[in-house]
Amino acid sequence: MELIIATKEEINKLVSEEIIELINKNNHCILGLATGSTPIGVYDLLVKAYNDKRVSFKDVTSFNLDEYVGLEETHNQSYRYFMNSHLFDHVDINIDNTHIPSNKDDSNNYKIYDEKIKNAGGIDIQLLGIGSNGHIAFNEPGTPFNTKTHIVSLKESTINDNARFFSSKDEVPKEAISMGLESIMNAKRVVLIAYGKNKQEAIYKMMALEPSEDLPASILQNHPNVTIYCDEEASELLVNNLK
Ligand code: PGA
Repeated sequence: MELIIATKEEINKLVSEEIIELINKNNHCILGLATGSTPIGVYDLLVKAYNDKRVSFKDVTSFNLDEYVGLEETHNQSYRYFMNSHLFDHVDINIDNTHIPSNKDDSNNYKIYDEKIKNAGGIDIQLLGIGSNGHIAFNEPGTPFNTKTHIVSLKESTINDNARFFSSKDEVPKEAISMGLESIMNAKRVVLIAYGKNKQEAIYKMMALEPSEDLPASILQNHPNVTIYCDEEASELLVNNLK
């Protein structure tokens, strides 16, 4: 795993430029996208690059990592709403080519999500955040490494982390649909971004300890093409332990 420690601004720039370069090389590329507070700066720069006519998303396909169960797409905390408002509504992507896993009986049915990704050609670059408990997507500690897209019961720590986006903790859905760890490992390249002290323990365990299902992100040690981007705070514990 490659580790890059930089400021938030530098990381947003590096990651967005990598995505722009990928699209400009292969208009039909497949993006694996993430929600949460972490990737917002990257999406802002992608929208800016589109407005500056440096990139077009016309032929791009995307697959998102996860979605809450039980929130309407129009709910302002649904991940469909998040993706539309932070990226899709502001660029020329064909909305029919943007996929979010769903347990509704429609074309995004989660049971065939992995098959759809495979049939599309596989994810060229998967963007990831990380939870304070080491989850990636909604793969909580204890998730078997060989899981595909599935329904997940959210852990208390994740509900607490995400309560800040809802008016009360009780409003946070208790279940989500998530790409599995095996689904994520099938991406050709993985870029994980972590900001802030809240992530430093997860980053340390992910990179310094043996891969374990107790820390889902540690599976990435087994992936051949991963870059971890951290700000100083998120990398502090890891760096101190390497000294
Ligand atoms: P965050 O969430 O980007 O809001 O910190 C990351 C995650 O839980 O995967």
